[in-house]
Amino acid sequence: MPSDPTRPGAATPPAATTPSATTPAATTPSATTPAATTPSEAPGLLLVTGGAGFIGSAIVTAALDQGWRVRVLDSLRADVHATTSAADGIPAPTPGAGTAARPATAAGTTSGRDTRVEFVRGDVTDRSTVAAALVGVSVVCHQAAKVGLGVDFLDAPDYVASNELGTAILLAEMTRANVGRLVLASSMVVYGEGAYRRASGAPTPIVQGGTGDEQGEGVSVRPPARRVGDLEAGRFEPLDPSTGEELQPALISEDDPLDPRNVYASSKLSQEYLAASWARSTGGRVVALRYHNVYGPGMPQNTPYAGVASLFRSAIERGEAPRVFEDGRQRRDFVHVADVASANLAAIERTASAEPALFRAYNVGSGTVHTIGDLAEALSRFSGGLPPVVTGEFRLGDVRHITASSERLRAELGWAPSISFEEGVREFASAPLRAAVTPPRSSEDSASPTPDTAPGSLGATP
Ligand SMILES: NC(=O)c1ccc[n+]([C@@H]2O[C@H](COP(=O)([O-])OP(=O)(O)OC[C@H]3O[C@@H](n4cnc5c(N)ncnc54)[C@H](O)[C@@H]3O)[C@@H](O)[C@H]2O)c1
Repeated sequence: MPSDPTRPGAATPPAATTPSATTPAATTPSATTPAATTPSEAPGLLLVTGGAGFIGSAIVTAALDQGWRVRVLDSLRADVHATTSAADGIPAPTPGAGTAARPATAAGTTSGRDTRVEFVRGDVTDRSTVAAALVGVSVVCHQAAKVGLGVDFLDAPDYVASNELGTAILLAEMTRANVGRLVLASSMVVYGEGAYRRASGAPTPIVQGGTGDEQGEGVSVRPPARRVGDLEAGRFEPLDPSTGEELQPALISEDDPLDPRNVYASSKLSQEYLAASWARSTGGRVVALRYHNVYGPGMPQNTPYAGVASLFRSAIERGEAPRVFEDGRQRRDFVHVADVASANLAAIERTASAEPALFRAYNVGSGTVHTIGDLAEALSRFSGGLPPVVTGEFRLGDVRHITASSERLRAELGWAPSISFEEGVREFASAPLRAAVTPPRSSEDSASPTPDTAPGSLGATP
Protein backbone atom coordinates (compact mmCIF):
# COMPACT_ATOMS: atom_id res chain seq x y z
CA MET A 1 0.00 0.00 0.00
CA PRO A 2 1.51 3.29 -0.89
CA SER A 3 2.40 5.40 2.04
CA ASP A 4 0.05 8.28 2.73
CA PRO A 5 1.99 11.33 3.81
CA THR A 6 -0.99 12.78 5.61
CA ARG A 7 -1.36 9.74 7.85
CA PRO A 8 0.23 10.32 11.26
CA GLY A 9 2.08 7.02 11.18
CA ALA A 10 3.26 7.42 7.64
CA ALA A 11 6.91 6.95 6.91
CA THR A 12 6.70 10.17 5.01
CA PRO A 13 7.58 13.23 6.99
CA PRO A 14 5.87 16.50 6.54
CA ALA A 15 4.96 17.34 3.03
CA ALA A 16 7.64 16.05 0.79
CA THR A 17 9.16 19.17 -0.52
CA THR A 18 12.55 18.67 -2.01
CA PRO A 19 14.74 16.25 -0.12
CA SER A 20 12.56 14.74 2.51
CA ALA A 21 12.88 12.28 5.30
CA THR A 22 11.33 9.66 3.04
CA THR A 23 14.19 10.01 0.69
CA PRO A 24 17.27 8.90 2.48
CA ALA A 25 20.25 10.99 1.72
CA ALA A 26 18.49 13.61 -0.25
CA THR A 27 17.52 13.77 -3.84
CA THR A 28 19.59 16.80 -4.59
CA PRO A 29 23.36 16.80 -4.65
CA SER A 30 23.74 19.61 -2.18
CA ALA A 31 21.89 17.76 0.55
CA THR A 32 24.47 15.03 0.57
CA THR A 33 27.38 17.37 0.69
CA PRO A 34 28.70 17.61 4.22
CA ALA A 35 28.48 21.13 5.49
CA ALA A 36 31.68 22.85 6.32
CA THR A 37 32.41 22.68 10.02
CA THR A 38 33.65 26.24 10.00
CA PRO A 39 31.01 28.85 9.30
CA SER A 40 31.05 29.96 5.67
CA GLU A 41 28.81 33.01 6.08
CA ALA A 42 29.33 36.23 7.93
CA PRO A 43 27.05 35.89 10.93
CA GLY A 44 24.21 38.38 11.04
CA LEU A 45 21.28 38.70 13.41
CA LEU A 46 19.85 35.44 14.73
CA LEU A 47 16.42 35.29 16.38
CA VAL A 48 16.15 32.55 19.00
CA THR A 49 12.58 32.01 20.13
CA GLY A 50 12.48 30.39 23.56
CA GLY A 51 16.03 31.65 24.02
CA ALA A 52 15.63 31.96 27.79
CA GLY A 53 14.89 28.24 28.11
CA PHE A 54 17.12 25.27 28.84
CA ILE A 55 18.18 24.53 25.26
CA GLY A 56 17.59 28.01 23.81
CA SER A 57 20.01 29.62 26.25
CA ALA A 58 22.74 27.14 25.28
CA ILE A 59 22.11 27.97 21.61
CA VAL A 60 22.42 31.68 22.36
CA THR A 61 25.78 31.12 24.03
CA ALA A 62 27.05 29.00 21.12
CA ALA A 63 25.82 31.54 18.55
CA LEU A 64 27.53 34.42 20.34
CA ASP A 65 30.73 32.38 20.34
CA GLN A 66 30.45 32.12 16.54
CA GLY A 67 30.03 35.85 16.16
CA TRP A 68 26.25 36.06 15.70
CA ARG A 69 24.30 38.95 17.07
CA VAL A 70 21.37 37.44 18.90
CA ARG A 71 17.84 38.50 19.65
CA VAL A 72 15.77 36.39 22.02
CA LEU A 73 11.99 36.26 21.91
CA ASP A 74 10.62 34.54 24.99
CA SER A 75 7.40 34.88 26.96
CA LEU A 76 9.08 33.61 30.16
CA ARG A 77 6.23 31.22 30.82
CA ALA A 78 5.27 31.12 34.46
CA ASP A 79 5.25 27.31 34.46
CA VAL A 80 8.83 27.31 33.18
CA HIS A 81 10.53 30.25 34.85
CA ALA A 82 10.03 30.27 38.58
CA THR A 83 11.98 33.19 39.85
CA THR A 84 11.80 36.68 38.51
CA SER A 85 13.69 39.67 39.70
CA ALA A 86 11.57 42.31 41.36
CA ALA A 87 13.10 44.92 39.09
CA ASP A 88 12.16 43.78 35.67
CA GLY A 89 10.31 40.51 35.80
CA ILE A 90 13.20 38.60 34.30
CA PRO A 91 14.24 35.23 35.66
CA ALA A 92 17.33 35.15 37.76
CA PRO A 93 20.22 33.80 35.70
CA THR A 94 21.13 30.18 36.22
CA PRO A 95 24.87 30.21 36.78
CA GLY A 96 26.72 28.31 34.10
CA ALA A 97 23.61 27.71 32.07
CA GLY A 98 23.75 30.15 29.24
CA THR A 99 23.33 33.25 31.34
CA ALA A 100 24.03 35.29 28.25
CA ALA A 101 20.56 34.35 27.12
CA ARG A 102 18.85 35.85 30.07
CA PRO A 103 19.10 39.48 29.27
CA ALA A 104 16.66 42.31 29.56
CA THR A 105 12.94 42.87 29.18
CA ALA A 106 13.83 45.29 26.46
CA ALA A 107 17.05 46.10 24.73
CA GLY A 108 19.07 48.37 26.94
CA THR A 109 18.29 46.97 30.38
CA THR A 110 21.31 44.82 30.78
CA SER A 111 22.28 44.52 34.41
CA GLY A 112 24.47 41.45 34.80
CA ARG A 113 23.62 40.25 31.32
CA ASP A 114 25.34 39.97 27.98
CA THR A 115 24.88 43.18 26.05
CA ARG A 116 25.22 41.36 22.73
CA VAL A 117 21.82 39.80 23.34
CA GLU A 118 18.71 41.80 22.71
CA PHE A 119 15.74 40.50 24.61
CA VAL A 120 12.12 40.77 23.60
CA ARG A 121 9.68 39.51 26.15
CA GLY A 122 6.64 38.35 24.26
CA ASP A 123 4.67 35.43 22.96
CA VAL A 124 5.12 33.82 19.56
CA THR A 125 1.35 33.83 19.20
CA ASP A 126 1.37 37.63 19.22
CA ARG A 127 1.63 38.77 15.60
CA SER A 128 2.89 42.30 16.16
CA THR A 129 5.48 41.20 18.71
CA VAL A 130 6.78 38.57 16.31
CA ALA A 131 6.86 41.08 13.44
CA ALA A 132 8.91 43.49 15.54
CA ALA A 133 11.25 40.72 16.66
CA LEU A 134 11.95 39.76 13.03
CA VAL A 135 13.24 43.15 11.90
CA GLY A 136 16.75 42.74 10.50
CA VAL A 137 16.88 39.01 11.22
CA SER A 138 18.58 36.59 8.79
CA VAL A 139 17.76 33.25 10.46
CA VAL A 140 15.25 32.05 13.05
CA CYS A 141 15.99 29.27 15.50
CA HIS A 142 12.57 28.30 16.84
CA GLN A 143 12.81 26.71 20.29
CA ALA A 144 9.78 28.27 21.98
CA ALA A 145 7.25 25.61 22.89
CA LYS A 146 5.18 24.30 25.72
CA VAL A 147 7.19 21.21 26.61
CA GLY A 148 6.36 17.90 28.27
CA LEU A 149 3.23 15.87 28.80
CA GLY A 150 1.36 18.50 30.75
CA VAL A 151 -1.03 17.73 33.54
CA ASP A 152 -4.06 16.43 31.72
CA PHE A 153 -6.03 16.90 28.52
CA LEU A 154 -7.14 20.35 29.67
CA ASP A 155 -3.64 21.42 28.64
CA ALA A 156 -4.38 20.60 24.99
CA PRO A 157 -5.43 24.11 23.91
CA ASP A 158 -2.27 25.54 25.46
CA TYR A 159 -0.08 23.07 23.52
CA VAL A 160 -1.89 23.80 20.30
CA ALA A 161 -1.78 27.57 20.83
CA SER A 162 1.84 27.80 21.89
CA ASN A 163 3.30 25.22 19.56
CA GLU A 164 1.06 25.05 16.52
CA LEU A 165 -0.56 28.49 16.32
CA GLY A 166 2.71 30.06 17.52
CA THR A 167 4.63 28.36 14.72
CA ALA A 168 2.02 29.33 12.13
CA ILE A 169 2.21 32.97 13.20
CA LEU A 170 5.98 32.93 13.23
CA LEU A 171 6.05 31.47 9.70
CA ALA A 172 3.49 33.94 8.40
CA GLU A 173 5.46 36.85 9.81
CA MET A 174 8.70 35.41 8.41
CA THR A 175 7.01 35.37 5.01
CA ARG A 176 5.93 38.99 5.41
CA ALA A 177 9.40 40.02 6.56
CA ASN A 178 11.11 37.96 3.85
CA VAL A 179 13.09 35.91 6.35
CA GLY A 180 13.68 32.61 4.58
CA ARG A 181 15.70 30.40 6.94
CA LEU A 182 14.42 28.38 9.87
CA VAL A 183 15.88 25.86 12.29
CA LEU A 184 13.07 24.12 14.12
CA ALA A 185 13.34 22.34 17.46
CA SER A 186 11.52 19.08 16.94
CA SER A 187 11.64 15.98 19.08
CA MET A 188 12.03 12.22 19.17
CA VAL A 189 8.44 12.12 20.42
CA VAL A 190 7.26 12.35 16.80
CA TYR A 191 8.22 8.66 16.45
CA GLY A 192 6.19 7.44 19.40
CA GLU A 193 8.12 4.18 19.95
CA GLY A 194 11.59 3.05 19.13
CA ALA A 195 12.61 0.80 16.26
CA TYR A 196 12.93 -2.96 16.72
CA ARG A 197 14.10 -6.06 14.91
CA ARG A 198 13.28 -9.72 15.30
CA ALA A 199 15.68 -11.68 17.44
CA SER A 200 16.85 -13.38 14.24
CA GLY A 201 18.07 -10.00 13.06
CA ALA A 202 15.58 -9.65 10.23
CA PRO A 203 13.64 -6.40 10.15
CA THR A 204 10.27 -6.82 11.82
CA PRO A 205 7.75 -4.85 9.84
CA ILE A 206 5.13 -4.23 12.48
CA VAL A 207 3.15 -1.06 12.25
CA GLN A 208 0.97 -0.36 15.21
CA GLY A 209 -2.64 -0.46 14.21
CA GLY A 210 -1.59 -1.54 10.74
CA THR A 211 -3.44 -4.03 8.61
CA GLY A 212 -0.38 -5.87 7.47
CA ASP A 213 -0.47 -4.16 4.10
CA GLU A 214 2.18 -1.79 5.33
CA GLN A 215 4.56 -4.63 5.97
CA GLY A 216 7.57 -5.17 3.80
CA GLU A 217 11.30 -5.40 3.83
CA GLY A 218 12.92 -2.52 5.61
CA VAL A 219 9.71 -0.94 6.86
CA SER A 220 10.37 0.54 10.20
CA VAL A 221 9.18 -1.19 13.03
CA ARG A 222 7.28 -0.73 16.16
CA PRO A 223 5.58 -3.18 18.41
CA PRO A 224 2.08 -2.71 19.71
CA ALA A 225 1.62 -1.25 23.18
CA ARG A 226 2.88 -3.56 25.90
CA ARG A 227 0.22 -5.52 27.77
CA VAL A 228 -0.50 -4.87 31.43
CA GLY A 229 -0.18 -8.56 32.23
CA ASP A 230 3.33 -8.70 30.76
CA LEU A 231 4.41 -5.59 32.65
CA GLU A 232 2.94 -6.88 35.91
CA ALA A 233 4.86 -10.09 35.40
CA GLY A 234 8.07 -8.13 34.88
CA ARG A 235 8.17 -8.89 31.14
CA PHE A 236 9.16 -5.44 29.97
CA GLU A 237 10.62 -6.14 26.55
CA PRO A 238 8.18 -5.65 23.66
CA LEU A 239 7.18 -8.95 22.12
CA ASP A 240 6.82 -9.97 18.52
CA PRO A 241 3.08 -10.63 18.23
CA SER A 242 3.59 -13.32 15.62
CA THR A 243 6.12 -15.40 17.57
CA GLY A 244 5.88 -14.13 21.14
CA GLU A 245 9.64 -13.64 21.14
CA GLU A 246 11.35 -10.58 22.51
CA LEU A 247 12.22 -7.96 19.93
CA GLN A 248 15.68 -6.47 19.64
CA PRO A 249 15.89 -2.68 19.91
CA ALA A 250 17.43 -0.86 16.98
CA LEU A 251 18.39 2.73 16.26
CA ILE A 252 15.60 4.88 14.92
CA SER A 253 16.18 6.79 11.72
CA GLU A 254 14.45 9.76 10.20
CA ASP A 255 12.72 7.48 7.71
CA ASP A 256 10.95 5.49 10.40
CA PRO A 257 7.20 5.92 10.82
CA LEU A 258 5.94 8.94 12.66
CA ASP A 259 3.44 8.12 15.36
CA PRO A 260 2.90 10.90 17.90
CA ARG A 261 1.03 9.52 20.90
CA ASN A 262 0.09 12.54 22.96
CA VAL A 263 -0.89 16.17 22.46
CA TYR A 264 2.62 17.47 22.94
CA ALA A 265 4.01 14.98 20.41
CA SER A 266 1.34 15.77 17.84
CA SER A 267 2.02 19.47 18.29
CA LYS A 268 5.73 18.88 17.60
CA LEU A 269 4.90 16.94 14.44
CA SER A 270 2.44 19.64 13.45
CA GLN A 271 5.26 22.17 13.74
CA GLU A 272 7.21 20.08 11.22
CA TYR A 273 4.25 19.89 8.84
CA LEU A 274 3.69 23.64 9.07
CA ALA A 275 7.35 24.37 8.44
CA ALA A 276 7.43 22.00 5.46
CA SER A 277 4.33 23.67 3.99
CA TRP A 278 5.93 27.05 4.49
CA ALA A 279 9.13 25.94 2.75
CA ARG A 280 7.17 24.58 -0.20
CA SER A 281 5.03 27.63 -0.60
CA THR A 282 7.65 30.32 -0.04
CA GLY A 283 10.89 28.65 -1.12
CA GLY A 284 12.14 28.95 2.44
CA ARG A 285 14.69 26.56 3.92
CA VAL A 286 14.00 24.49 7.02
CA VAL A 287 16.11 22.14 9.06
CA ALA A 288 14.12 20.32 11.76
CA LEU A 289 16.17 18.83 14.58
CA ARG A 290 14.60 15.92 16.42
CA TYR A 291 16.31 16.10 19.78
CA HIS A 292 16.57 12.95 21.87
CA ASN A 293 17.09 13.05 25.67
CA VAL A 294 18.78 16.35 26.28
CA TYR A 295 20.51 16.90 29.62
CA GLY A 296 22.98 19.37 31.06
CA PRO A 297 23.28 22.53 33.13
CA GLY A 298 20.10 24.56 33.40
CA MET A 299 17.69 21.61 33.19
CA PRO A 300 14.49 22.29 35.06
CA GLN A 301 14.32 20.88 38.56
CA ASN A 302 11.86 18.51 40.08
CA THR A 303 8.69 19.61 38.28
CA PRO A 304 6.10 17.77 36.21
CA TYR A 305 8.13 18.89 33.21
CA ALA A 306 11.55 17.85 34.47
CA GLY A 307 13.48 15.15 32.68
CA VAL A 308 14.58 11.97 34.33
CA ALA A 309 18.17 13.17 34.70
CA SER A 310 17.16 16.10 36.88
CA LEU A 311 14.60 14.00 38.75
CA PHE A 312 17.35 11.53 39.68
CA ARG A 313 19.63 14.38 40.66
CA SER A 314 16.98 16.02 42.79
CA ALA A 315 16.40 12.72 44.61
CA ILE A 316 20.11 12.37 45.32
CA GLU A 317 20.24 15.94 46.63
CA ARG A 318 17.39 15.16 49.01
CA GLY A 319 19.47 12.26 50.33
CA GLU A 320 17.21 9.71 48.65
CA ALA A 321 18.09 6.89 46.29
CA PRO A 322 17.05 7.49 42.68
CA ARG A 323 14.09 5.23 41.95
CA VAL A 324 14.39 3.47 38.62
CA PHE A 325 11.27 2.00 37.07
CA GLU A 326 10.93 -1.36 35.30
CA ASP A 327 14.27 -3.17 35.36
CA GLY A 328 16.33 -0.08 34.56
CA ARG A 329 17.33 -1.46 31.16
CA GLN A 330 15.27 1.00 29.12
CA ARG A 331 17.57 2.34 26.42
CA ARG A 332 17.91 6.01 25.64
CA ASP A 333 20.26 8.35 23.85
CA PHE A 334 21.33 11.06 26.29
CA VAL A 335 22.74 14.04 24.45
CA HIS A 336 24.40 16.99 26.15
CA VAL A 337 22.78 20.39 25.72
CA ALA A 338 26.04 21.89 24.41
CA ASP A 339 26.05 19.29 21.62
CA VAL A 340 22.42 20.14 20.83
CA ALA A 341 23.48 23.78 20.60
CA SER A 342 26.29 22.93 18.18
CA ALA A 343 23.82 20.91 16.08
CA ASN A 344 21.70 24.05 15.84
CA LEU A 345 24.68 26.05 14.64
CA ALA A 346 25.42 23.39 12.01
CA ALA A 347 21.76 23.51 10.96
CA ILE A 348 21.86 27.29 10.66
CA GLU A 349 24.85 26.87 8.40
CA ARG A 350 22.97 24.29 6.34
CA THR A 351 20.13 26.71 5.65
CA ALA A 352 22.61 29.20 4.22
CA SER A 353 23.74 26.90 1.43
CA ALA A 354 20.57 24.88 0.90
CA GLU A 355 18.46 24.82 -2.20
CA PRO A 356 15.14 26.67 -1.93
CA ALA A 357 12.15 24.83 -0.44
CA LEU A 358 14.33 22.52 1.61
CA PHE A 359 12.70 20.64 4.44
CA ARG A 360 15.02 18.17 6.07
CA ALA A 361 14.68 16.41 9.45
CA TYR A 362 17.62 15.16 11.50
CA ASN A 363 17.89 13.15 14.69
CA VAL A 364 20.12 14.73 17.30
CA GLY A 365 21.55 12.08 19.61
CA SER A 366 24.94 11.29 21.03
CA GLY A 367 25.13 8.04 19.08
CA THR A 368 25.82 6.05 22.23
CA VAL A 369 23.16 3.93 23.85
CA HIS A 370 22.77 3.96 27.61
CA THR A 371 20.09 2.72 29.91
CA ILE A 372 18.06 4.61 32.46
CA GLY A 373 19.80 2.44 35.06
CA ASP A 374 23.22 3.51 33.70
CA LEU A 375 22.22 7.12 34.14
CA ALA A 376 20.99 6.68 37.70
CA GLU A 377 24.10 4.70 38.64
CA ALA A 378 26.50 7.25 37.12
CA LEU A 379 24.73 10.18 38.77
CA SER A 380 24.82 8.47 42.17
CA ARG A 381 28.49 7.62 41.72
CA PHE A 382 29.55 11.10 40.64
CA SER A 383 27.53 12.83 43.36
CA GLY A 384 28.45 10.39 46.12
CA GLY A 385 24.76 9.70 46.70
CA LEU A 386 22.83 6.57 47.54
CA PRO A 387 22.87 3.91 44.83
CA PRO A 388 19.73 3.66 42.73
CA VAL A 389 16.84 1.37 43.60
CA VAL A 390 15.27 -0.55 40.75
CA THR A 391 11.61 -0.70 41.69
CA GLY A 392 9.97 -2.78 38.96
CA GLU A 393 7.19 -0.21 38.81
CA PHE A 394 5.90 0.69 35.39
CA ARG A 395 3.62 3.13 33.69
CA LEU A 396 1.37 2.18 30.86
CA GLY A 397 2.23 4.00 27.70
CA ASP A 398 5.88 4.42 28.51
CA VAL A 399 8.29 3.76 25.73
CA ARG A 400 10.60 0.83 26.44
CA HIS A 401 13.50 1.82 24.18
CA ILE A 402 14.16 4.71 21.86
CA THR A 403 17.62 5.51 20.61
CA ALA A 404 18.74 7.58 17.68
CA SER A 405 20.77 7.08 14.60
CA SER A 406 22.35 10.47 14.05
CA GLU A 407 24.18 9.36 10.91
CA ARG A 408 22.29 11.75 8.69
CA LEU A 409 23.29 14.71 10.84
CA ARG A 410 26.91 13.61 10.85
CA ALA A 411 27.06 12.89 7.13
CA GLU A 412 25.17 15.89 5.81
CA LEU A 413 25.94 18.59 8.36
CA GLY A 414 29.38 17.50 9.49
CA TRP A 415 28.21 17.52 13.11
CA ALA A 416 29.63 15.32 15.84
CA PRO A 417 28.94 15.34 19.56
CA SER A 418 31.85 16.44 21.69
CA ILE A 419 30.79 15.43 25.19
CA SER A 420 30.86 11.79 26.24
CA PHE A 421 28.27 10.28 28.57
CA GLU A 422 30.86 9.92 31.36
CA GLU A 423 32.07 13.49 30.99
CA GLY A 424 28.61 14.98 30.65
CA VAL A 425 27.05 13.10 33.55
CA ARG A 426 30.03 13.83 35.78
CA GLU A 427 29.52 17.55 35.10
CA PHE A 428 25.76 17.29 35.41
CA ALA A 429 26.05 15.66 38.83
CA SER A 430 26.94 19.06 40.28
CA ALA A 431 25.70 21.47 37.60
CA PRO A 432 23.18 24.16 38.45
CA LEU A 433 19.57 23.35 37.63
CA ARG A 434 16.82 25.78 36.79
CA ALA A 435 14.80 26.81 39.82
CA ALA A 436 11.69 24.75 40.47
CA VAL A 437 8.34 26.28 39.64
CA THR A 438 5.09 25.99 41.51
CA PRO A 439 3.25 23.00 40.09
CA PRO A 440 0.57 24.02 37.61
CA ARG A 441 -3.17 23.83 38.24
CA SER A 442 -3.55 20.29 39.47
CA SER A 443 -1.39 18.37 41.86
CA GLU A 444 1.91 16.94 40.81
CA ASP A 445 0.51 13.49 41.50
CA SER A 446 -1.31 13.43 38.22
CA ALA A 447 1.65 14.64 36.25
CA SER A 448 4.22 12.72 34.33
CA PRO A 449 7.77 13.57 33.45
CA THR A 450 8.22 14.89 29.99
CA PRO A 451 8.50 12.26 27.30
CA ASP A 452 11.29 14.33 25.85
CA THR A 453 13.48 13.41 28.71
CA ALA A 454 13.31 9.70 29.17
CA PRO A 455 9.71 8.77 29.36
CA GLY A 456 8.69 6.39 31.89
CA SER A 457 11.53 5.83 34.21
CA LEU A 458 10.52 7.81 37.16
CA GLY A 459 7.58 9.84 38.13
CA ALA A 460 4.01 9.40 39.15
CA THR A 461 2.87 6.16 40.68
CA PRO A 462 1.64 3.90 37.88
N1 LIG B 1 14.48 19.20 26.72
C1 LIG B 1 14.44 18.16 25.88
O1 LIG B 1 14.93 17.06 26.20
C2 LIG B 1 13.82 18.32 24.51
C3 LIG B 1 13.78 17.19 23.69
C4 LIG B 1 13.19 17.30 22.43
C5 LIG B 1 12.73 18.51 21.97
N2 LIG B 1 12.77 19.60 22.79
C6 LIG B 1 12.28 20.88 22.22
O2 LIG B 1 13.30 21.83 22.41
C7 LIG B 1 12.73 23.13 22.58
C8 LIG B 1 13.30 23.79 23.83
O3 LIG B 1 12.96 22.96 24.94
P1 LIG B 1 13.56 23.21 26.39
O4 LIG B 1 13.80 21.88 27.01
O5 LIG B 1 14.65 24.21 26.32
O6 LIG B 1 12.27 23.83 27.09
P2 LIG B 1 12.17 25.10 28.06
O7 LIG B 1 10.79 25.04 28.62
O8 LIG B 1 13.33 25.13 28.99
O9 LIG B 1 12.31 26.33 27.08
C9 LIG B 1 11.25 26.79 26.27
C10 LIG B 1 11.27 28.31 26.31
O10 LIG B 1 10.25 28.77 25.43
C11 LIG B 1 9.51 29.78 26.08
N3 LIG B 1 8.16 29.75 25.51
C12 LIG B 1 7.27 28.74 25.60
N4 LIG B 1 6.16 29.05 24.93
C13 LIG B 1 6.36 30.27 24.39
C14 LIG B 1 5.59 31.13 23.58
N5 LIG B 1 4.35 30.78 23.19
N6 LIG B 1 6.11 32.32 23.19
C15 LIG B 1 7.35 32.67 23.56
N7 LIG B 1 8.13 31.91 24.35
C16 LIG B 1 7.64 30.72 24.75
C17 LIG B 1 9.55 29.44 27.55
O11 LIG B 1 9.33 30.57 28.38
C18 LIG B 1 10.96 28.87 27.70
O12 LIG B 1 11.89 29.86 28.06
C19 LIG B 1 11.22 22.93 22.59
O13 LIG B 1 10.72 23.25 21.31
C20 LIG B 1 11.05 21.45 22.89
O14 LIG B 1 9.86 20.95 22.33
C21 LIG B 1 13.30 19.53 24.05
